[in-house]
Amino acid sequence: MEKLINITLKVWRQKGPKVKGAFETHSLEGISTESSFLEMLDILNEKLINEGKEPIVFDHDCREGICGMCSLYINGHPHGPDEDITTCQLHMRKFKDGETITIEPWRSHGFPVIRDLMVDRTAFDKIMQAGGYVSVNTGGIPDANAIPIPKVDADEAMDAASCIGCGACVAACKNGSAMLFVSAKVSQLALLPQGRVEASRRAKAMVSKMDELGFGNCTNTQACEVQCPKNVSIANIARMNREFLKAKFQD
Ligand code: FES
Repeated sequence: MEKLINITLKVWRQKGPKVKGAFETHSLEGISTESSFLEMLDILNEKLINEGKEPIVFDHDCREGICGMCSLYINGHPHGPDEDITTCQLHMRKFKDGETITIEPWRSHGFPVIRDLMVDRTAFDKIMQAGGYVSVNTGGIPDANAIPIPKVDADEAMDAASCIGCGACVAACKNGSAMLFVSAKVSQLALLPQGRVEASRRAKAMVSKMDELGFGNCTNTQACEVQCPKNVSIANIARMNREFLKAKFQD
């Protein structure tokens, strides 16, 4: 049942990557528990604009849990207190009347803050460019059934492919490691015959790029798996390590 709640927000404000940031406090009254978290931020921004103040910058696009843009750290959790959802799928019914909600950007060396709650995640694009693809000779369209794939493999590949590249794994990790993201991208291809040919080379190239861009190492805390909105498994990290080692032995 819909209720109206009053909340206090402690929001991180930062004018740019090299400028010192700080928390700003705002009060909102009469917020519907049926509104989404991002709709609540829209209401706050309308209020700020009407008061002649700068609206808060935050990332979003699909608002359906697909694009991975809505990267907010809410009350100490990437994507907030609810499980297996993105920030855009979080609703205000998860919060109590009178609650103080703290909102921060992803904090990681690999994701510098652009402004307020928006971070630069082009590091993920660079990792994908390093090897997250299958090289093919263009030509006629192959028959979809020409390469039979066992259902177990297809399901595992689909599970890995559910990673939306939001970066919650990095934000959740005390080392700022991107291993869950990279391993999901390595696995979704390594599990399929079309991607096997380049599997080891791909793992080596993507891991090297990840290291170069300043992401930390994995120490198996499993925080990434717990906070992943798509339930991507750390079993993918083990698979990536195997591919990486194979590439090392082939050198
Ligand atoms: S806005 Fe696209 S996943 Fe949240």
